[in-house]
Amino acid sequence: MKYVIGNLKAHKNRIQIQEWIDVFLQKITSDKAVISKLDSDELTIIICPPFPFLSDLSEKIGSLSNISIGTQTLSSFEEGSFTGEVTAPMVTDVATYSILGHSERRNIFHETNEEIEKKILLAQKYAIKPILCIRDEKDPINPDVTFVTYEPVEAIGSGHNASFDDVIAMKKKLNLSPSQLFIYGGSVNANDVKDYLTHPEINGVLVGTASLDPEAFYSICTQA
Ligand code: PGA
Repeated sequence: MKYVIGNLKAHKNRIQIQEWIDVFLQKITSDKAVISKLDSDELTIIICPPFPFLSDLSEKIGSLSNISIGTQTLSSFEEGSFTGEVTAPMVTDVATYSILGHSERRNIFHETNEEIEKKILLAQKYAIKPILCIRDEKDPINPDVTFVTYEPVEAIGSGHNASFDDVIAMKKKLNLSPSQLFIYGGSVNANDVKDYLTHPEINGVLVGTASLDPEAFYSICTQA
């Protein structure tokens, strides 16, 4: 199974996101090869929109197999007087996955390892699978997390993705357990994704900028 994860970050309004999903699904559903990979568990596509659009996208995707919705973060609180927070129980009916510990959350919003660990535990409590992002081997990895995404900060949004040698060297350093999956993210695009997606040591890709164009994101999904 290969995983293609689209992180739409804080882009698009409701109309734009509707257009995005319409184009993306039209492309996917008319491509027999991609549908066959989805149906045979060779490919999972995870779309992570901004919170307000989780339900819209979930409804559009309906029962298409192996296309799922994820959040881009979660609150480290379960519920209570925490103005503005979006908690795991609020999204458990629409989100199957959650990106946690993204470097933008760590670096811009100063999320700590302790907060990220609380988010992981809450996600798991509410049957949401954490996609833990780490910047390097110094960021701790909860051994119960299945999806571990290596995203070197200098590769994110820069147009310069990390070399295979660096990505594989990092995987070795992480000493993941056999049940953990290793995902790469950082400037992956439709022109260079194939080498990552077909590499036996890499279980999938996390795509930011290139996921904003539904045709480019579709093209990435076709290369798994
Ligand atoms: P990028 O973003 O593809 O634009 O580098 C990846 C990410 O931040 O998850």
